[in-house]
Amino acid sequence: MAALAAGAMATSFLAAAEPVEIKFSHVVAENTPKGQAALKFKELVEQRLPGEYKVSVFPNSQLFGDNNELAALLLNDVQFVAPSLSKFERYTKRLQLFDLPFLFKDMDAVEKFQMSDAGQSLLGSMKRKGIVGLGYLHNGMKQFSANEPLKLPKDASGKKFRVMASDVLAAQFDAVNAMAVKKPFSEVFTLLQTRAIDGQENTWSNTYSQKFYEVQSYITESNHGVLDYMVVTSDTFWKSLPADKRKVLQACMSEAIAYGNSLANEQNMKDRQLIIDSKMSQVVELTADERKAWVDAMKPVWGKFEDQIGKDMIDAAVAANN
Ligand code: LMR
Repeated sequence: MAALAAGAMATSFLAAAEPVEIKFSHVVAENTPKGQAALKFKELVEQRLPGEYKVSVFPNSQLFGDNNELAALLLNDVQFVAPSLSKFERYTKRLQLFDLPFLFKDMDAVEKFQMSDAGQSLLGSMKRKGIVGLGYLHNGMKQFSANEPLKLPKDASGKKFRVMASDVLAAQFDAVNAMAVKKPFSEVFTLLQTRAIDGQENTWSNTYSQKFYEVQSYITESNHGVLDYMVVTSDTFWKSLPADKRKVLQACMSEAIAYGNSLANEQNMKDRQLIIDSKMSQVVELTADERKAWVDAMKPVWGKFEDQIGKDMIDAAVAANN
């Protein structure tokens, strides 16, 4: 703490001489909504605080991956990260809300909930753990992929699926008698390629940019859940900044998030088409009855997590569908 404060003070003296480096680390490729938002943040900060701050962006788990990025943030080894909302379970159970299967009907509902008072209150849900939420960043809806077509829940039975480190996502696959394996994002391609796992769930942009479609024959257009992010910093770092600089950084981040969000849907649709054009993976569309079978099988998961998440939050999220 004291060291950080001293560091910040030293930093402001040094500002005239050498720009202070701020690190933004993430796990995805640069040609994704999160990758683009991080680069926009760098551009804006270096434009508005020239010579004072420089932003180094580390994509593709180059600096930190799923297993250590939040710990690194709390140690001030990195100043901004944007993990998916599924990856905060060790710091708060409230964000498990976003993993409930078939909670949001589309990204408009997700946006509406995130902008509501209930959604905004969750940005502060890790304050006591020293983590400050600066905003939500979109990726999009998740699809299931496997080497056999998944049309009905029974098609997933007995198969192994990679999930992010989330008990809700594990329960979602338990509900269809499949096995969930929690693994970092950086390992997914190899696990699929070597057939150590049968399938995974992700957005079109991640499935395309990580080449999962090259090692998965079928992608079911299930839109069964959301994969979004929270851009976070550490309370200690944030407070150590001079108030006027913090204000500029916050504005740059808000604009970078808005930019990423404006790209997300288009990027996912573009990458969906590129996957179809590649002919390496076939997109499986569900009939209304097939989709209902997945909803019926997976929705009971909500009840298991209601106490941890809070019924008020679930109700507020459901209301955003209207
Ligand atoms: C995943 O682990 O599948 C995603 O959270 C990766 C990401 O950051 O989009």
